Amino acid sequence: MENVNKSILITGATGYIATHTIVELVNRGYEIVGIDNLVNSSKKVLDKTKEITGESIKFFESDLRERDNLRDLFEKFDFKAVIHFAGYKAVGESVLDPLLYYSNNLSGTITLLDVMKEYAVKSIVFSSSCTVYGSPDKVPVDEGNVISPQNPYGRTKAYIDQILEDISNSDPDWSIISLRYFNPIGAHESGLIGEDPNGIPNNLVPFITQTAVGKLEKLSVFGNDYPTKDGTCIRDYIHVVDLAIAHLKALEHLEKNSCEFINLGTGKGYSVLEVIRTFEKVNNVKIPFEISPRREGDAVEVFAKPDKADKLLDWKAKRSLEKMLKDAWNFQQKNPNGYK
Ligand code: WQD
Repeated sequence: MENVNKSILITGATGYIATHTIVELVNRGYEIVGIDNLVNSSKKVLDKTKEITGESIKFFESDLRERDNLRDLFEKFDFKAVIHFAGYKAVGESVLDPLLYYSNNLSGTITLLDVMKEYAVKSIVFSSSCTVYGSPDKVPVDEGNVISPQNPYGRTKAYIDQILEDISNSDPDWSIISLRYFNPIGAHESGLIGEDPNGIPNNLVPFITQTAVGKLEKLSVFGNDYPTKDGTCIRDYIHVVDLAIAHLKALEHLEKNSCEFINLGTGKGYSVLEVIRTFEKVNNVKIPFEISPRREGDAVEVFAKPDKADKLLDWKAKRSLEKMLKDAWNFQQKNPNGYK
């Protein structure tokens, strides 16, 4: 076993939320070991996190389903906890290829949990999602809302939440926090790291920034006939750095014999048109868009009740929508083609 301080294992380490979390953890002196299969991200991003923090992390390319590779890591390092980000997250793709999602997200997680148990590393912060609530039965969405995911991606998150709860009920030595993100957007203010989706973005804000930078011609607004103030859907957008800080707080609040599910949102909802107008205003850029038919499966209104995060983690989102959209644009301008 390498003679290192207690390390934190981060799965999906080269992904959007993970890289922003690594910056916050390294800046606070944590030792990080990262693992990623690099299917959806590039190792180059770790040069950027090093540029921001001045430190590099230990990184291993591997898929979580490769049990022997995982066991080698647990032999080599003395992990204090695991932050588990690794997982595919494109809703549309999950509908077209559910087995890809069940195999990667579920089997990968079960292998990870198995090896954690074998090495008695029983502390985990899990990257879950508001998508487990589907079209919420009530807003604001609190952790007591009905769990009703509407797609295979959302179901993998709901199943993993349930697996974690069952593990906690079976063994009081486990410390578990599952963080249910609402809509993460924005980028580190340096513009060195940010959201760089593969191919045509599914999500609103990267589609806006790629339109603004000229990579895409026009934004389609998926429906303006919803029962909302301006007819477009409402979401709870949260700055990715606020989200990263919440993981630091979760790490610090892990408790034995406890399994907590915590919504991470600002508690405020904005419509699609409000996001477009705000982006144009703060960045002085025009976004060409057209109203298109509704997107299958979209919920009308989703925003969080953020009280539990405040109470249990002593955490609140601090950054405004204006700041989120300024930082998103700053990253896109500095990286017109993402990390490529
Ligand atoms: C936001 C709004 C669209 C694109 C998804 C996942 C969820 C989570 C966050 C992982 C909606 C509208 C979008 C476009 C548009 N990810 N829109 N034109 O669907 O709320 O959540 O990302 O956990 O699991 O489901 O985010 O950004 O796709 O859409 O009009 O080109 O923007 O209709 O109202 P969503 P989104």
